Amino acid sequence: MDSIIVTGNGPLNGSIPIAGAKNACLTLMPATLLSEEPLTLTNAPRLSDIRTMTTLLQSLGAEVSGLQDGQVLAMSSHDIHNHTADYDIVRKMRASILVLGPMLARDGHAIVSLPGGCAIGARPVDLHLKALEAMGAELDLREGYVHAKAPGGLKGGTFEFPFVSVGATENALMAATLAKGTSVLKNAAREPEIVDLARCLRKMGAQIEGEGTSTLTIQGVDRLGGATHPVVTDRIELGTYMLAPAIAGGEVELLGGRLDLVGAFVEKLDAAGIDVTETSTGLMVKRRGDRVQAVDVETEPFPGFPTDLQAQMMALLCTAEGTSVLQEKIFENRFMHAPELIRMGAEIDVQGGTATVTGVNRLKGAPVMATDLRASVSLILAGLAAEGDTTVSRVYHLDRGYEHVVRKLSGVGAKIERIKGE
Ligand code: EPZ
Repeated sequence: MDSIIVTGNGPLNGSIPIAGAKNACLTLMPATLLSEEPLTLTNAPRLSDIRTMTTLLQSLGAEVSGLQDGQVLAMSSHDIHNHTADYDIVRKMRASILVLGPMLARDGHAIVSLPGGCAIGARPVDLHLKALEAMGAELDLREGYVHAKAPGGLKGGTFEFPFVSVGATENALMAATLAKGTSVLKNAAREPEIVDLARCLRKMGAQIEGEGTSTLTIQGVDRLGGATHPVVTDRIELGTYMLAPAIAGGEVELLGGRLDLVGAFVEKLDAAGIDVTETSTGLMVKRRGDRVQAVDVETEPFPGFPTDLQAQMMALLCTAEGTSVLQEKIFENRFMHAPELIRMGAEIDVQGGTATVTGVNRLKGAPVMATDLRASVSLILAGLAAEGDTTVSRVYHLDRGYEHVVRKLSGVGAKIERIKGE
C-alpha cells in the first residue's frame, strides 16, 4: 500500500485547480439509468469511486466510456439487461445504492445489495426505502439485498424526511421523475450536489421545482431524454485546499472556487483569522497573522458547516490560539483522525460526538495512518506545517476523493511525495 510523506516547508504560494464534485458525479452517473438516450457528463473528477460506479453501471448493461482521460463520461443505458447490483461492488462504495431509485423507476424492478456500514458509522438506508415506498414501491429485504418492485410503475407520493439525508433525497428525486403523478419531498437535502442533479434531470426533461430548498416538487413524465451536463465544482475539495495556506501560511488561489458553495465554512475561516476573497478565476486565501484563532464548529446539513470538512478543520485548529470545540452531528464515529493528530502532538479530548482541541504552537511530524477519506487528507494538511516528516499510510482512502494531491500541493511549494508500497 502506498504512503505519502509531507514535510513542513514554510508558506505556500500559487494556485490549485479544483475538480468536479465526487459527490455530485456519484449521483449524476446513476441518472443515466432513467433514460435510453445518451447522458454525457463533463468536468468529471478522476477518482477511484468514479471508476467503481462505472463498473457497477456497466454490470447492469449501461455503456460508460471515460473520454479525455476520464474528464468526460459518455454514458448510454439503452439496454439494461441486469437489474441486480451485487454486494461485491456495493460493499466497496455505499453510493451504489443510488442505482435503486432509477432502475425501479425505469423498469419497475431492481435488486440492490444493502451497502453495510462503514468506518464513520452504521449509515443505514432506511430513509431511501421509506421514500420509495411512499411512491408505491414494494420492498422485500432478503439475504442482504433489497428486492424492489413497482408493478405498473411508481406513483407520485409525498414523503417527509424525519431528518436530512443527502442520498435518500437523491434516490427519491431520481425515482420521482418517472413516477405517475406529482411527488413532494419535504425536509429534503439542500446540498449543491442535489441542485446539480436537479439541473441535469431538468435538461433530460424532468419537471422539478424547489431544488436548494427543503421542499422538492416533481411532476412525473413518461420518459426522459439525454443531456450533456458539467459536474459542479467540488466544494469539499475546495474547502480542503483552502485550509492549506490557512495552516502553512502564504497565499493560494483556488481556481474554480465559488463562495456560494462554502458559505458557512468561510464564515468559520474568517472568525479564525483567514481572509477569503473572490477573484475572477476563483477564491484567494491568506492567513491574516502568524497564528489562527480558536473557533467552535458544529456540523450540519447544507447550508451549515459540512461534516466532510470537519476533519480538515480540526487539523487547522490543532495549532490555533485557544481552545476549540467541534461537534460532529451527522455521523456517529467521525473523529478517527483525532488519535492520529495526537500522535503529532495535538491536544484533543474526544467525548462522544464532541472533540475539544487545545491549540499547541506547532505539531511534530510522525508516522500516522489514514482511516477514511477525509481523515486521510486532514493528516496531510497537518503535516504541511509540522516540524519534520509526516508519513501517512493507507493512502488508498485518499484516492477515492482527491485526484493528484501530491501534484496540487507541490505545485504551491509543499514538500510532499508519494512512496509506492508493496
Ligand atoms: C453523503 O452521504 C455524502 N456521500 C457523504 O460524503 C456526506 O458526508 C453525507 O452525504 C452528508 O453530507 C455521497 O454523496 C456519495 P446522508 P450519505 O444520507 O448520503 C443517516 C465523503 O466523504 N441516514 O446525508 O450517505 C446516516 O447514517 C462522504 O465524500 C440514516 O439513518 O449521507 C448519517 O448519520 C462521506 N438512514 C446521516 O443520516 C438513511 O436512510 C446523514 O447521512 C440515510 C442516512
